[in-house]
Amino acid sequence: MTNKYVIDSIPGDGIGVDVTDVAMRMVDAVAELHDFSIEWRIRDWNSDLYKKTGRMMPVDGIEQLATGDGIYLGAVGTPDVPDDITLWGLLIPLRRKFDQYINLRPMRLLPGVKGSMPGLESLDVVVVRENVEGEYSTIGGRFGTGTPEEFALQEAVFTRKGITRVAHYAAKIAASRNGKLVSATKSNGIIHSMPFWDEVVAETLAEYPAVEVEKVLIDALAARVVMKPTTLSTIVASNLFGDILSDLVAGVAGSIGIAPSANLNPERRFPSMFEPVHGSAPDIAGKGIANPIGALWAAAMMLEHLGETAGAQSLTKAFESALADGIATPDLGGTATTESFADAVRERLS
Ligand code: NAI
Ligand code: MG
Repeated sequence: MTNKYVIDSIPGDGIGVDVTDVAMRMVDAVAELHDFSIEWRIRDWNSDLYKKTGRMMPVDGIEQLATGDGIYLGAVGTPDVPDDITLWGLLIPLRRKFDQYINLRPMRLLPGVKGSMPGLESLDVVVVRENVEGEYSTIGGRFGTGTPEEFALQEAVFTRKGITRVAHYAAKIAASRNGKLVSATKSNGIIHSMPFWDEVVAETLAEYPAVEVEKVLIDALAARVVMKPTTLSTIVASNLFGDILSDLVAGVAGSIGIAPSANLNPERRFPSMFEPVHGSAPDIAGKGIANPIGALWAAAMMLEHLGETAGAQSLTKAFESALADGIATPDLGGTATTESFADAVRERLS
């Protein structure tokens, strides 16, 4: 019997639309080759919908998505709508309502890609980002608006449960790689939440004697990503630090256009969500030059999650082989368009 999956696709805004289009076509081609099928439920939940209705998604959007096997997202954001509206109107509520508490962001130096730092020969890093709490919180407020005393308060939320579960997940990833885990912290400057983070990570990691954990202050870690990326393998980080680190790692590996992201509900009680790391890139939207690799790699992670491992590998091998043959979009120094890169991937699917 052929496996069939229902995937909700939210192309979103800007280049999110271009790269999602490529990802869906390539996944369909892979499905045909590997004897499964995807029913895409395409959702026009984006900034245009917001401008028309005042909402980024319908009132029952969450209920609609809950019936599917997964969610595929391009990116949301447009210059004429405030970014907190687009993100808090769609992306962040989905992560939270579906308890996608792990954000898995792998990065490798891909074949034929030079990377941004001279002499970089290898890079293979997985960022495990806490995805539903931490610095991204609605607790706080703006006070004294319009007065000279105006101020803003922004609270971060760190829970024992939240830190413990992301530490467990990261420990298992580290154990499956080289056994080394770096925990990103800032317990010298942030005196309540970050010492708590350190403590709970250390307690959790005590259950994994085979995993060596090193706690590194985020500022020094940022420099290390740039200067000695080969000393890093698995990194566990809070919501904000993980967000920043994953763009940084991708930038060192060549472009943020290649970075994938899986928002996982590991217990599979809810659908997980797959998306490229990058945003809607208004500066290149409509030009047809967006790099679709982040989107394709995210699609491969989705196939892996669905159990279609051979399909996932076939998709990954195809974009790697196109790169190895010197085909690349301008962000990687090439001349390919989004479409011509997609054609090159299609030709290489097996
Ligand atoms: P961005 O990731 O959209 O762009 C940053 C830079 O990287 C730009 O110069 C862009 O051209 C380049 N870039 C990004 N993806 C690329 C690709 N696939 N190929 C080639 N070049 C690429 O980040 P930015 O500019 O900070 O944000 C733009 C909008 O996207 C904002 O509205 C922001 O809130 C939103 N955003 C949405 C996200 C999401 O939906 N998951 C994530 C990050 C940002
Ligand atoms: Mg980000």
